[in-house]
Amino acid sequence: MKRTIKEAEAFVKEKLAHDTTGHDWQHINRVRNLAMILCEKEGGNKQVVELAALFHDVVDDKLVVDVNKAYKEVEEWLIVHRISEKDCHHIIHILKTVSFKGGNRPDMTTLEGEVVQDADRLDAIGAVGIARTFMYAGAKGTPLYNPSIEIRDVMSEQEYRNGKSTAVAHFYEKLLKLYEGMNTYTAKAIAKERHDYMLGFLAQFKKEWNYNNENDYD
Ligand code: ADP
Ligand code: NI
Repeated sequence: MKRTIKEAEAFVKEKLAHDTTGHDWQHINRVRNLAMILCEKEGGNKQVVELAALFHDVVDDKLVVDVNKAYKEVEEWLIVHRISEKDCHHIIHILKTVSFKGGNRPDMTTLEGEVVQDADRLDAIGAVGIARTFMYAGAKGTPLYNPSIEIRDVMSEQEYRNGKSTAVAHFYEKLLKLYEGMNTYTAKAIAKERHDYMLGFLAQFKKEWNYNNENDYD
């Protein structure tokens, strides 16, 4: 088990070695650690949770060019490492449903999936989440903020990924929705402080952005 996990870590580290969008090995490691904490409290199969957490971004359409190939590689890896067929299917199912994609995903159907999704979402909010959002925007060339760009409420996967948006808009289009949507009680309790921190950040951001306007006394 320990050896399998070490080898999974090496596989993922190599795949995400050149990431500049906030989905690097450190993100994966935080998600894995959070997932194991949640699993300890909520229950679930530890090996499935740990492997799904480690692999969750290796197959993501925003990070890899050929998604089918990425899934094939993970499946082969699981078979070579003698993960049972049942667990293998379970892990692949989690990878296919974990991503937010504009809110267009089906609900998680297993406790293990819920735990991994919550861990990934916890790393998308709070101080780390704020930092990652601006890193992602920088890497993709997305503007910081533009008050005249409308916040999108409902959007397709395509619009979510490629539509016109800003880093600050992403808080309203995704990040502020995550607290309410947490699957597990344990994650929701951790999310509260992170959620409130983002609200404070946005209030301060807008105060500074409008500083000149606020001091316009004529
Ligand atoms: P998921 O894989 O759950 O769909 P995302 O693709 O939304 O998650 O991306 C995960 C993280 O990447 C977000 O939490 C955020 O930090 C960053 N990110 C994704 N899309 C954007 C965007 N349009 N603007 C800024 N950051 C983004
Ligand atoms: Ni992730």
